[in-house]
Amino acid sequence: MGKYIIKGGKKLEGEVRISGSKNAALPILAATILNSSKSTLYNLPDIHDTQMMLEILKLLGAKAEKKKNKVIIDTSKISKYEIPESLMRQMRSSVILAGSLIGKYKTATFSYPGGCDIGSRPIDLHLKGFEKLGIAIQKEYGNINCVADKIIGEKIDLDFPSVGATENIILASVLAEGQTIINNAAREPEIIDLQNFLNKMGAKIKGAGSNQIIVQGVKTLKEVSYNIMPDRIEAGTFLCAAAITGGNIKLNEVNSEHITPVISKLEEANCKIKIEKNSVEINAQKKLKSLEIKTMPYPGFPTDLQSLFVSTLTVAKGTSLMVENIFENRYKYIPELVRMGAKIMVEGKSAVIKGVRKLYGANVKATDLRGGAALVLAGLAAKGVTNVENIEYILRGYENFDIKLQKLGANILLE
Ligand code: EPZ
Repeated sequence: MGKYIIKGGKKLEGEVRISGSKNAALPILAATILNSSKSTLYNLPDIHDTQMMLEILKLLGAKAEKKKNKVIIDTSKISKYEIPESLMRQMRSSVILAGSLIGKYKTATFSYPGGCDIGSRPIDLHLKGFEKLGIAIQKEYGNINCVADKIIGEKIDLDFPSVGATENIILASVLAEGQTIINNAAREPEIIDLQNFLNKMGAKIKGAGSNQIIVQGVKTLKEVSYNIMPDRIEAGTFLCAAAITGGNIKLNEVNSEHITPVISKLEEANCKIKIEKNSVEINAQKKLKSLEIKTMPYPGFPTDLQSLFVSTLTVAKGTSLMVENIFENRYKYIPELVRMGAKIMVEGKSAVIKGVRKLYGANVKATDLRGGAALVLAGLAAKGVTNVENIEYILRGYENFDIKLQKLGANILLE
C-alpha cells in the first residue's frame, strides 16, 4: 500500500478546482444500465471507486471509453446480471447496481456487501424496498438473488432516510409499471443529481431533495449526456485543510448551497468565508474556536466530514464535542490522531476534543477514506514529518489529492 510523506507547518494558499462528486457519480454510473444505450458523462472524478464501478460495468458486458474530459458508456450489450463477490467486498457501494439490473432485466445476483471500515452497513432497507416492488429476494450461501416477473410501482416508507436505499429504489422503479412513492427519502444533493440524470434519459421522477420522491414508471429511455455535480465532501475537506493550517484558499467549481451547514460551522469557528456563484473562499488566519457538532442526514451536518472536523478541532482553542449519529464505528482514525499529540476521548457516539497548541509528525495508518483524509490534514498542520500509510483508502474518493495540496503550497509527496 502507498504512503504520503508530509512535512507540516505550511499555511495553504491559492486556488483549487473541486472535482465531480464521487457519491453522485456512483449511482449515475449504475443508472447507465437502464437505457441500454449510450451515456456520456462529463466531470466524472477519476478515482478508485469510479474506476472500480466502470470495471464492474464492463464485466457485465458494457463498454466504457474515456475521452479527454468525458467517459462514454454503452450498456446495449450487457449480458450478465451478477455482481462478483470479490468486487462487492472491495466496494460495498456496488450494491447500487442491483437496483438498475433488477429495474432493467428483472434479475440481479450479488453477495452481502459485508461490513466495512465504518460500520456494519446493512442493506435491509434496500431489500425491503425491492420486496414492496414485487421483487422476490432469495438468500443463500451469502448470495442474494433478486428476480421479478413484473415490477409494480408501490408506496414505500423508509424506516431511515438511507441514501443508498433511496437511490436503489429509484433505480428499480424507473421502468416499473405505475407509480412509486418513496416516503422518508434521503434528501442528499447526490439524489437530485441522479434524478436530473435519469429525467434527461426520459424517466419521470420528481421530489428529489425532499423527503418524498415520486417515480412514474416509463417504458423506454434514451441516450443521454450529463455533467456531474461538484463533490461537496471534497469541498469541505479543502475548507478544513485551510482551517487547520491557518491558510487562505479559494475553491472553484463548488456549489456553496450543498455545504451550508459546513460553512456555518467554520464561521462559528472564527473562519472568514466569502461565497461567490461557483466559488467559496476561506480565510482562517485567526485562532480557531471550539465547536459542538452532531452529524445528521442531509441537510444536517454531513457524517462524511466528521473526521475532517475532528482533525481540524484538535488545534482549536478550548474543548469541542462531536456526536456521530449515522455510523456506529466511524472514529477508528482517532487513535492515529492521538499518536500525533491530539487530545481526544471517545465515549460511544461522542468524541471530546481538547484543543492542543501543536500536533507533532508521526507514522500513522489510514483506516478508511475520510479518516485517512483527516490524518493528512493533521500532517499538514503538524510540526515535523508525518507518514500516512494505507493511502489506497484515500485514493478511493479524492482525485489528485496530493497534487491539489501541493499546488496550495503543502509539502506532501506520494511514495
Ligand atoms: C452513502 O452511503 C454515502 N456513500 C456515504 O459516503 C455517506 O456517508 C452516507 O450515504 C450517509 O450520507 C455513497 O453515496 C456511495 P446510508 P450509504 O444508507 O448509502 C444504515 C463516503 O465517505 N442503513 O444513508 O451506505 C447504515 O448502516 C461514504 O463517501 C441501514 O441500517 O449510507 C448507516 O448507519 C461513506 N440499513 C445509515 O443507515 C440499510 O438498508 C446511513 O446509511 C441502509 C443503511
